[in-house]
Amino acid sequence: MAQDLQRPDLIVAVIGAGTMGRGIAQVCAQAGMTALLFDAREDAACEALAAIDKALDAQVAKGRMTAEIKQGVIGRLRAIGSLDEVAPAGIVIEAIVEELAAKRELLRELEQRIAPEAVIATNTSSLSVTEIAAGCGNPGRVGGLHFFNPPPLMKLVEVIGGLRSDPALVEALTGFVRLIGKHPVVAADTPGFVVNHAGRAYGPEALRIVAQGIASPREVDLLMKEAASFRMGPFELLDLIGADVTYAVMVSIYERYFGEPMYQPSAQLAVRVAGGLLGRKTKQGFYNYDGPPAAGPPTVQVAVQPVPSVAWVADEDGGRELADWLASAGVKCQVGGAPGAGALCFVTPLGEDATSAVVRLKLDPARTVAVDMLGGFKGRRTVMKTPLTTPETLGAAVAALSTAAPVTAINDSAGFVVQRLLAMIVNIGSRIAELRIAAPGDIDTAVELGLNYPKGPLALGDTLGGRRVLAVLDGMHAVTLDPKYRATAWLRRRALLGISLLTPD
Ligand code: NAI
Repeated sequence: MAQDLQRPDLIVAVIGAGTMGRGIAQVCAQAGMTALLFDAREDAACEALAAIDKALDAQVAKGRMTAEIKQGVIGRLRAIGSLDEVAPAGIVIEAIVEELAAKRELLRELEQRIAPEAVIATNTSSLSVTEIAAGCGNPGRVGGLHFFNPPPLMKLVEVIGGLRSDPALVEALTGFVRLIGKHPVVAADTPGFVVNHAGRAYGPEALRIVAQGIASPREVDLLMKEAASFRMGPFELLDLIGADVTYAVMVSIYERYFGEPMYQPSAQLAVRVAGGLLGRKTKQGFYNYDGPPAAGPPTVQVAVQPVPSVAWVADEDGGRELADWLASAGVKCQVGGAPGAGALCFVTPLGEDATSAVVRLKLDPARTVAVDMLGGFKGRRTVMKTPLTTPETLGAAVAALSTAAPVTAINDSAGFVVQRLLAMIVNIGSRIAELRIAAPGDIDTAVELGLNYPKGPLALGDTLGGRRVLAVLDGMHAVTLDPKYRATAWLRRRALLGISLLTPD
């Protein structure tokens, strides 16, 4: 049985004093616990404590912490030079190199030194907790505590029970996470747990959009920030995290789910990693950080035209709202019926590309454009052309729509840019729910806290409308015949029943 991790005199030992270990030790000391810090590299633990001291000094200088509190925190942190000194710890948190053999070896060493009732938690981000624990004499006391970077700032900690963990362990670890002032989310021991699994939509789908020449990285970023209210665009995020780190997670999750197409890594990103275009840390990624940022040419050139006086709009989902937009720009609109000869035509497909909508509605591709109306995006509008749309048609459509918000013109794509990204986020969130990796509400909380998205994937699906998201995915699937776009049964059932995607079975 796991020991009581709520004891006020609980001693925590953190092994590995790198980016994560030092942050975890700081969090524990700030919560009033004694935190021991060990690293295989001599001096690493002392260097980590010096870095924490400096970081806390900055907090004091900004008035966020008193000098007295800071001294208390520093007084509870201790660098230890030998693993033997972990003996008094009630919980040991492992944050060493991400290698199965090294972690297993360390856990065997720890087992020989800690009390029988002491608990071991691994901070692994991509390995299986069960597999790490399988090398132990007593796997029952081994669980996962997955912190996020940087630990002092990130509220979320995923709590993972291994298949052979003591049934009381998850509860004990959850209580411990609350005690250190963090928000626990319990996740099943599956590849990527919740957050790294849920993150398989935003970057990978954005990379596909760029690889297919639909829009540029900058255009995708602007759309996601200004139309869909994301704090960072997918390419800004890739540059921040580092292409190498993201690529490794992509490959790991894809392989550990045995080639599930939904998680297919980007071949283009592999080349960028090989070439050292890793992002901010190498000063070159999707953006250049070594000089003035270059905006780059637009993917689709738009020839300026006057605002048209009349237009025809398909009477489909979003059509009436689009007609209102156009009316406020002074365009007289006909919604539905047969378009007049020579009229500029607008379609508002869900998941279909502009070409398929044109053919289905028997329109003239030369004078038709598509507008993304999913979610009624206010901040930036998307206009999509068919391969035959004339420059005059595109220019007139952009002129009509850009009176109230900036417009991005893109090449033909099933699901535009924003629909594609949002539908994939919702679908992968639904898959996490379907696989019982975490409770539906917890999935959303984990994504909001761990990925900083404006909403969790299931609540996002509810806001957009389950049926609309399903239509986007079915449309993308029908146009591309690509199995990565098949909707999960979790999403389909709830969309068909018209109930929240958060509804449990
Ligand atoms: P890091 O490379 O910054 O630090 C690892 C530290 O462990 C180094 O100081 C190294 O000297 C030490 N070390 C290596 N082998 C050791 C051993 N056998 N015994 C004692 N110390 C040893 O790595 P980082 O980023 O702190 O990651 C640590 C763990 O946390 C990994 O499992 C990683 O997957 C996980 N993680 C990392 C996140 C991140 O954003 N960096 C986020 C969440 C989890």
